[in-house]
This record gives sequence, structure tokens and C-alpha cells, in this order.
Amino acid sequence: LKLSLVLAESALELVPEEVASSPDVASDSRRRGKKAREILLDRSFHQGAMATLEEGMKRGRPDLVHVALLSVTSTPLYLEGLVDVYVHTSRDIVIRLKPKTRLTKSYVRFRGLAEQVLAERPNGGLLSVSQGSLRGLLRSVRPDWVCGLSTQGKQSSFERVGMDLSGRKNPCVVVGGFPQGHFAQDTLKAFDALLRVHPMPLDAHVVVSRVIYEVEKHLND
Ligand SMILES: C[S@@+](CC[C@H](N)C(=O)[O-])C[C@H]1O[C@@H](n2cnc3c(N)ncnc32)[C@H](O)[C@@H]1O
Repeated sequence: LKLSLVLAESALELVPEEVASSPDVASDSRRRGKKAREILLDRSFHQGAMATLEEGMKRGRPDLVHVALLSVTSTPLYLEGLVDVYVHTSRDIVIRLKPKTRLTKSYVRFRGLAEQVLAERPNGGLLSVSQGSLRGLLRSVRPDWVCGLSTQGKQSSFERVGMDLSGRKNPCVVVGGFPQGHFAQDTLKAFDALLRVHPMPLDAHVVVSRVIYEVEKHLND
């Protein structure tokens, strides 16, 4: 089994042009001694700017992406090299983690790393970055099953999804890397199934770690 895990439409991006000169971005940029366009868009610091952005509710939460990535990259399945992790962002950038890469637990260091790779877009190394849609990513990964998870999906459970994923060779599970809202239509088209794994809406970091745990249970079946 090789599981691909995608955090899709993730709220991770550099400050976009439209809000680069807004007052809260400008003061954050001065405080950090970095150009506005080279810092991560972050709702905690750029609240005024966020209000004017298209789809603003889904953006500017790099902390949430960090926590979800830590959740995945600390699991036994990932540490054994059986999970390929991708972060697809709301701006259609794809970051691929080299298998078994451990991420820093410090948010400040993660922020610096994310800012560096989003600006330099390295092609290779621990984090490689390319421009592309979720569907483009899936065309290159070529999974034998793509399972999107959403509260709007068909009622299922962590157990069932874990079982279905582990019964395949090269499955892909897609979890939203955003704080609120739902997948875009174009994202939904990429899924073979859209499933709800719990009656409650949960944070992405809980969803990814539980799905992986359920897959681990079936590893030696
Ligand atoms: C914080 S949620 C996004 C917000 C959204 N309110 C929702 O209900 O899906 C982050 C991601 O976790 C996954 N998720 C959260 N709760 C879920 C559930 N009960 N069933 C399936 N997926 C879930 C989805 O992939 C979602 O995009």
C-alpha cells in the first residue's frame, strides 16, 4: 500500500498583491523586516486585509496547515514511508513532502520555511513546489481511488474509510486544509467518492490522524 494524502485548497499562501499595501500587512512586514509579498498571509495579523479578499473565510490559516502536517508526519504509517503527503493550496500551488521528511514543530520555523519555499519554489529537496491544480496533481499521482472527505459527503465512518483505503494499492485521501467552508466544484469533480466520517465537523488534524490510524489497523491483513 502507498497512501497519498492531500490537504486540498489549503489556507497557505504568501500575501497576495491585492492586500500587500494594506495597513496591517505593511506594519507586519515592517515588524518582521520582510517584504509584504514574502510573508505568509495570516488571519491573526492581517485581519483587516482578510476582510476584502475573495473567499477570505477559507484563507490565511497557515497554523492550521502546520498542525495538520505535524499530525500526519508523526504517525507510524508515515514514518514507515507508506504515506506521500501533498499540500495543494487555494492558489493552486502544490507542495510535495519528500517521503519520511519530519517537519519542525516550531510554528515560527515552519512559517519561515513555508515563506522560503513559496517564494523560491524549489523543484526537489525536502519540500518541492510546483504550480498546479488538484486535478493536475492527481493526474501525475495516478491513484486507483480518490476519496474526498467532507461533512457534505455520504455518511460513512473512519473505520469504513480506513478499510476501503487499505484495500487498494495506491489510494488517495483528500482533506480540506481550510478552516471553514467546503470544497470548490472543480475539486469535487476529482473525487471517486465524497464521504462524511463523523457526525460532527472536525478539524483537519483530527481527521487525518484518525484516517491514518484506521489504515494502520489493516496493514497486515
Ligand atoms: C475544518 S474542516 C473544514 C470545514 C467544514 N466546516 C466542513 O464541515 O467540512 C477541514 C476538513 O476536515 C474534513 N472534515 C472535517 N469534519 C469532517 C467530517 N465529519 N467528515 C468528513 N470530513 C470531515 C474535511 O475534509 C474538511 O474540509
